[in-house]
Amino acid sequence: MSANNSTNNHTYTPPSNVVCLPLTNQLEALLTIIRDKDTNRGDFIFYSDRIIRLLVEEGLNHLPVVEKKVITPTGCEFTGVSFKGKICGVSIMRAGEAMEQGSVRIGKILIQRDEETAQPKLYYAKLPPGIENRYVLLLDPMLATGGSAIKAIEVLLSYGVKEDKILFLNLIAAPEGIQAVTSKFSQLKIITSFIDQGLNEKKFIIPGLGDFGDRYFTWP
Ligand code: URA
Repeated sequence: MSANNSTNNHTYTPPSNVVCLPLTNQLEALLTIIRDKDTNRGDFIFYSDRIIRLLVEEGLNHLPVVEKKVITPTGCEFTGVSFKGKICGVSIMRAGEAMEQGSVRIGKILIQRDEETAQPKLYYAKLPPGIENRYVLLLDPMLATGGSAIKAIEVLLSYGVKEDKILFLNLIAAPEGIQAVTSKFSQLKIITSFIDQGLNEKKFIIPGLGDFGDRYFTWP
């Protein structure tokens, strides 16, 4: 469902290539748990994983299908569909690795701030062979300024991935990050579970949930 008719941030209308999960009671409860500073690491992982599953499921809804006929065990022919193209996941390290669920082929991109230029810099990319022919689920749980995402998308494009075959999945997005990414790339889709108010002076998402990578991988 497009964010234009279901956005969960009523003060911000994102561009039409942003898809916001419908804010069901379930999703709101899951988000409330992972936002709570008192949620322990085990629960943070468990409930984040549930939201990530919803995001991946929504992402798959945006992939094209072709007609497929099968024979059921009752001997009947059933005309359904199968996915048209191959898929792979690409995580932006480290936090994006938390989103590597399921069995899709996975690539990894490491981007960090260059101390001299203060710009996001590519340190490492390992992408599956033939990625230029695949749909790519780009994985990063928090879309804050959009700097790393833009760099990661540029890397994918340089490997021959078509922009309209990129689905960028995140749990929480800031309007600043959405604007930065969509003003450069209008053909990809961003799929997010919630659009927050914005960024604070330290570039953390507000209200947010703190540092996702720390809470998922190291928080006691
Ligand atoms: N990354 C995080 O983990 N949290 C934020 O609030 C912003 C970026």
